[in-house]
Amino acid sequence: MTDYRQGFDDLTREIHEPELPVDGDWPDWLSGTLIRNGPAQFSVGDQDYRHWFDGHAMLHAFRMDNGTVSYRNRFLETKSRTEALAAGEIVRSEFATDPCRSLFGRVMSVFNPTPTDNASINVARLDDQYVAMTETPLPVAFDPETLNTVGVVDYDDDVDAQMTTAHPHVEPDTGTIFTYQTAFGRQSEYQICSLPSDRAKRTVRASLDVARPSYMHSFGMTEQYVILSEWPLVVDPLDLLLRGQPFIENFEWMPERGTRFRILRKADGAEVATCTADAAFAFHHVNAFEQDGEIACDIVTYPDASIIDELYLDNLRGEKPSPGTGSLRRYQLPLEGGRAPSHVLSEETLELPRLHEASARAQPYNIVYGIGTRHEGNFADQLVKIDVESEEAQTWHAGGTYPGEPVFVPRPDATAEDDGVLLSVVLDPADDHSFLLVLDAATFAERARATVPHAIPFGFHGQFFE
Ligand code: CO
Repeated sequence: MTDYRQGFDDLTREIHEPELPVDGDWPDWLSGTLIRNGPAQFSVGDQDYRHWFDGHAMLHAFRMDNGTVSYRNRFLETKSRTEALAAGEIVRSEFATDPCRSLFGRVMSVFNPTPTDNASINVARLDDQYVAMTETPLPVAFDPETLNTVGVVDYDDDVDAQMTTAHPHVEPDTGTIFTYQTAFGRQSEYQICSLPSDRAKRTVRASLDVARPSYMHSFGMTEQYVILSEWPLVVDPLDLLLRGQPFIENFEWMPERGTRFRILRKADGAEVATCTADAAFAFHHVNAFEQDGEIACDIVTYPDASIIDELYLDNLRGEKPSPGTGSLRRYQLPLEGGRAPSHVLSEETLELPRLHEASARAQPYNIVYGIGTRHEGNFADQLVKIDVESEEAQTWHAGGTYPGEPVFVPRPDATAEDDGVLLSVVLDPADDHSFLLVLDAATFAERARATVPHAIPFGFHGQFFE
C-alpha cells in the first residue's frame, strides 16, 4: 500500500497549466469544465485545524476542449482564510475547530457570531453565478475562468437560518432549486426553501418545528416530495450557545430515537407522513423516487455517527485510517407513514455517490457510482458502480492510488444510463501527483488520464459544467 496520507497534506501552490499531458484515448466529444472543491490548507501559523471538513477551500478547474485539458487551482479567498492569514491564527469557527478564545471572547462571539464562509464542500450554479458551498448559508461566488473569488452571495430575501446543506436539489422540469435549512432559536425549525433558477431569492415553502435538530448533510427529493432524514445525531440548541464547543461536538448520538423520515409535499408544504427506522447515520442521499404508494430512498448509511470522529485529521493521519465508505441502503418509505423496511443493495461499500443526473434523478433508475474500499484498512482505494436493480457491482482500481468522487458525463445523444464517462481526480502518492482519470462508465475500463503536476489533497464534490 502506498501512503494515502499525502491526501491530507497542505497544497499551497496555485498554478495554471494550459495543457496537461494526456495518456490514452481522450474522448474528443468531452467539452466543458469540471470544477472540484475541497480543503487544501490544514494549519495556520502554529495552529492546526482538527477535521478533514475544516481546511481552507480550494477550487480546481479542468477545462476540456477538442481532446485537450487545462488545469487551474486557486484558494477561495474567503473571510475565514484571509482573516486567519492576516492574524496568523485561526479566527472563525469551523465544523470541528474553534479558535482559541478567552471566556470573554466566547461570550462576545455568542452576541456577535462570525460564521464561517469557508465553502469547501461543493460547487453549483446559482442565479447565473458559480458558487462554492458549505453548511452555513453563505455561498461564495467565483469566476469559473480565473477561479478568482467574487464574494459571499447576498440573498435577496430576509430568510434567517444558521445551517444548511451543500447538496441542494434541482427540479428537472423547472430548474427550481430546493434546499433545506435549520434555524436555531427558542423554537428551532427546519425550513424547506425554493429558489428560482434566475434569482438568489429563497422562499420558505414549509417549516417544521423541532426541539433537537438533527445533523443532516443532505436530503432526498422525488417529483412530489421532499424527505428530511433525521438521524439520531441531534443538538440541544442551547448547547450551541453555551457550551463553547466546536459546532459538531455539540451534537449527541441518541440511538433510542431511531431514524425518522419526515416526508413533505412540495406543492403545499404539508407534512404527509413520518416513517421510522432503526438508528443509523448518513452524509449522502443517493436518489429517491415514488413507486407503488411508497418512496424508494437510497442512502449511503453507517451504523452510527462514529464516521464523523474517524474523519478527524489525527485519525486520518494515524496508523488505522477509516475506510471512509458506507453501505448503499434502500429504505422503502410508505406514503401513509409507519415503519420503513430497508436492505443493503451491495456488499461493495460506497461514498461520494453520483448518478446520471438528467436520466436517473428522482426516477426509477439503475446505476450509482462512487468511491469504495478494496483493501480493508486502507483509505478509499477504488471506484465502484452498483446496479440497484440487479444488485451487481463493478470496480476499478490502480494499485496504490486513491480516486475521488466520480462525476458522470453522458456522451452526446446517449440513451443508455451508463453511456458516458466518469471523471475522477486520483491521487498517486508513489509519483507525488494526481491525475484526472477518464473511465468508460459502461465497461468500467480506463480510457485516458491527464497528469497534474502536483498532488491534490482529497476533496469532496465537484460538478461538470458544459
Ligand atoms: Co457531501
